[in-house]
Amino acid sequence: MDVAKRIRELRLLLQEHAHRYYVLDDPLISDGEYDLLFHELVRLEEQHPELITPDSPSQHLGAIPLDKFAQVVHRLPMLSLENAFNTDDLHAFEDRLLRFLNQDIAPVSLSYMAEPKIDGLAVELIYEQGKLLQGSTRGDGSKGEDITAQLKTISSIPHKLQDHATPRLEVRGEVFMDREALTLLNHERLQGGEPLFANPRNAAAGSLRQLDPAITARRPLKFLAYGIADPAQTPCSSQQELLVWMGNLGLPVSELARICPSITDVITRFDELAALRHQLDYEIDGMVVKVDDFELQQRLGNKARAPRWAIACKFPAIQATTRLISVAFQVGRTGAVTPVAILEPVEVGGVTVSRATLHNRDEFERKDLRVGDTVLVQRAGDVIPEVVKAIVEKRDGSEQPVAMPIHCPVCGHALLKVVGEAVTRCVNPHCPAQRLRSLIHFSSKAGLDIDGLGKKSMEQLFNLQLVRDIPDIFVLTHEQLASLEGWGDKSADKVIAAIEAARHPVLGRFLGALGIRFVGEVTAALLEQTFESLGQLMHASLATLLEIEGIGEQAAGSIIDYFSDPDVRVMFDRLQQAGVTPEAGQRSQADLPLSGQVILFTGTLTTLSRTEAKKLVKDHGGQIATTVTHNMTHLVAGEKAESKLKKAKELGKIILTEQEFHEMIHHEPRTTPQQAVVK
Ligand code: IVH
Repeated sequence: MDVAKRIRELRLLLQEHAHRYYVLDDPLISDGEYDLLFHELVRLEEQHPELITPDSPSQHLGAIPLDKFAQVVHRLPMLSLENAFNTDDLHAFEDRLLRFLNQDIAPVSLSYMAEPKIDGLAVELIYEQGKLLQGSTRGDGSKGEDITAQLKTISSIPHKLQDHATPRLEVRGEVFMDREALTLLNHERLQGGEPLFANPRNAAAGSLRQLDPAITARRPLKFLAYGIADPAQTPCSSQQELLVWMGNLGLPVSELARICPSITDVITRFDELAALRHQLDYEIDGMVVKVDDFELQQRLGNKARAPRWAIACKFPAIQATTRLISVAFQVGRTGAVTPVAILEPVEVGGVTVSRATLHNRDEFERKDLRVGDTVLVQRAGDVIPEVVKAIVEKRDGSEQPVAMPIHCPVCGHALLKVVGEAVTRCVNPHCPAQRLRSLIHFSSKAGLDIDGLGKKSMEQLFNLQLVRDIPDIFVLTHEQLASLEGWGDKSADKVIAAIEAARHPVLGRFLGALGIRFVGEVTAALLEQTFESLGQLMHASLATLLEIEGIGEQAAGSIIDYFSDPDVRVMFDRLQQAGVTPEAGQRSQADLPLSGQVILFTGTLTTLSRTEAKKLVKDHGGQIATTVTHNMTHLVAGEKAESKLKKAKELGKIILTEQEFHEMIHHEPRTTPQQAVVK
């Protein structure tokens, strides 16, 4: 192999990818693949130090700032981190530290701080005499972009610190977006026809690098501080002390940072974080390990690109590239046709992915995928895998374009796309695909929860024409079921009993199970509170429906259409004959102590888990808020409540302790406090 040539190639590749990643927020390859290329370059340069040039990406950070923002020169460079991918790399890290510190001559004992590596955007905040003066992006490490106004819109960034004495502090940390917030934002963007953010990092970057800070203000960004450019500006002598000190100043710091007295403890903590990862509200892509003692950090110093005293242990990549074999078009319960990518199986974050959603026609057309394309696939948490994009650069001309069908792939009926709606729909109410999906929904957990009638069994019953419509479920007999392939007396008994139990559902649940368009769980519950029986609802006028607070024109119109369909009328007659009678709700929510109240929990709760707290609110007629908004009526502050509490106070909202919350709903709290739950 021509080493010099490969090195040149790698440098060009890395420069291009770094530019796309840092400057354009539009990466072509996954982080994992970038790391591999970077590693290859570093390895080759180590073997051939004579080939190292000052402009190699290994010697500096590859990004240059966007010129639309004013430039900020960082007084001290904002460095990157070297990566560790396995335990061997971590042991090698410690060996290097000990060698550098001349351990043979002067023995040292190393203790480490292990912190989550948040997947966001690195920023620097400059405070003078405790006042936030300037904020910037990392940029190329020495020069970044001035995004002071944008950063000031983030509620977890204090404008003033609880300390006015320190002349100057250069705080470093990460701006990021919660997973749920990203999903919501992408959902809105999908509806609005805007391109989706591939990951939380792109979302944070895209939201911060908006010339108009008002746009940033509308994005739910958060900040966590992890360091100070020059620890000598502080009274602290270790990273552990620094995190506590910053917390006392009012800067948010991670609650997941742990001191590790040895590298073995570091490894244990890495496994813990890896297991905890998917339960966190935000995405982390690894763990940062730092030598705790500042004096040792100083002795170890920095290399060109990264400090010697820290390393990033990366989790396995959750993005990967693979080949698109074909595109299938799936017909859902409401007739919506979803394009699904059929992929050459690839491992993404420990799971083999061979199918990925392409959302809808607009997204599909924007991505312009071709069969044979190399595509970037991503899996975030437990979410369905998705295709981020095709890697156009890898095309050789043999790829075949795929067109959205104009007829339903299942029933052949013409498809319809309503102007202004993203979805394409099969509008044939008799389409077998829609019928089967509706049946699956009806008996699923989100529907009447008929145990034993899951997706597979329902498919079997549907294909055998034993169940073609909802009423068919209620006339199934033990004999019919017991004789089916894969069934027996026991499973037939179980399903018959579950069907029996589903004969008198509560009205709201029943309405939700029917899958009427625009009638989800919430609307169904509102209908249950308003109408005493199904008959009453069936005869309700549009005006009556529109009077219900919380029901809009779309849902009201859809309900009227549904109940005026003659086929639906026939279905209800058959249901009645089969003895299916939905029951009115137990009692009006208006009598409940929390009706009309919108409650937000923050901080660590000591007498309740989050799930219990949410259930209590719902059971007592209230609603749950996830952020501080004008709608929210009460905030229940647990221990260590911070930014949300502050914001709620600013908005003049009612603040309750956990005890006061229990009193409000006349509930006895548990006396033994449970362990703090990581939220
Ligand atoms: S320390 C000189 N600590 O990871 C030390 N970085 O490649 C440099 N990051 O973009 C950073 N969480 O913004 C440090 N707890 C943490 C971090 C962290 C995330 C980011 C950092 C930088 C990248 C380093």
